[in-house]
Amino acid sequence: MGLLDGKVAIVTGAARGIGRAIALKFAQEGADVAFTDLAIDDNAKATEAEINALGVKGKAYASNAADYADTERVVAQIMEDFGRIDVLVNNAGITRDGAIKRMTEQQWDMVINVNLKSAFNFIHAVQPIMFKQKNGSIINMSSVVGVSGNANQANYAASKAGLIGLAKSVAQELGPRNIRANAIAPGFILTEMTDVLPDNVKEGWYAQIPLRRGGTPEEVANVALFLASDLSSFVSGQVLQVCGAMNT
Ligand code: NAI
Repeated sequence: MGLLDGKVAIVTGAARGIGRAIALKFAQEGADVAFTDLAIDDNAKATEAEINALGVKGKAYASNAADYADTERVVAQIMEDFGRIDVLVNNAGITRDGAIKRMTEQQWDMVINVNLKSAFNFIHAVQPIMFKQKNGSIINMSSVVGVSGNANQANYAASKAGLIGLAKSVAQELGPRNIRANAIAPGFILTEMTDVLPDNVKEGWYAQIPLRRGGTPEEVANVALFLASDLSSFVSGQVLQVCGAMNT
């Protein structure tokens, strides 16, 4: 018996990193998992194979989450292939960090579109399906910097704060149809995204974290599992920070 037996989940940007960990965790708990990424590269193929090896259905879809029409297309295709959608995890995200005075319009637009507009695109596309099912759990991958802000990440922090407002609004609007929406705000998590940071920057982060380490993708996936499953059936409109007490 898995916590997600019989459920179908979509996870965006799940070829690698936190999204991949969530897709695998959901599959381990019995969910069929459709996941997207920009391209079906070796990472995506490996994730797809690992999901299928767990005995559930898993399929990778190439899609740009920032593109409205492309999102409508991919959700329709997933519906055709899987027949229902119970869980949506808006995980796809990028950074284009820089001081506000040097930030270009392109850096701003790209981060807002990939991180925030993407979540609108997917929520808009899945809501009629969840509405008919009278069931759904939507999870937006925010960040602690969406709660507290961060110097040199104005675009990223604004997009992540937006994901919180979006989740809270959807929770209020769609709650009467038994559709829940929450945000996860991870702190410093060890993935390819953070691996590129210089060692002294990583050490700086660890010093600010009471648990004195970065988190793992699996530790974020465990919280996503809770929010996706019926264990959290009365939890909606919330932000769960997964940050080793960095933001308290
Ligand atoms: P990652 O860079 O390892 O993985 C992100 C995935 O999203 C990649 O596979 C990438 O190809 C995909 N992606 C990028 N743009 C896309 C698009 N337009 N459409 C579809 N897929 C796209 O990043 P990581 O670390 O796994 O982060 C996942 C999420 O967690 C992101 O939203 C990130 O902002 C958030 N997060 C990460 C933290 C960390 O410390 N790693 C901390 C807080 C939040």
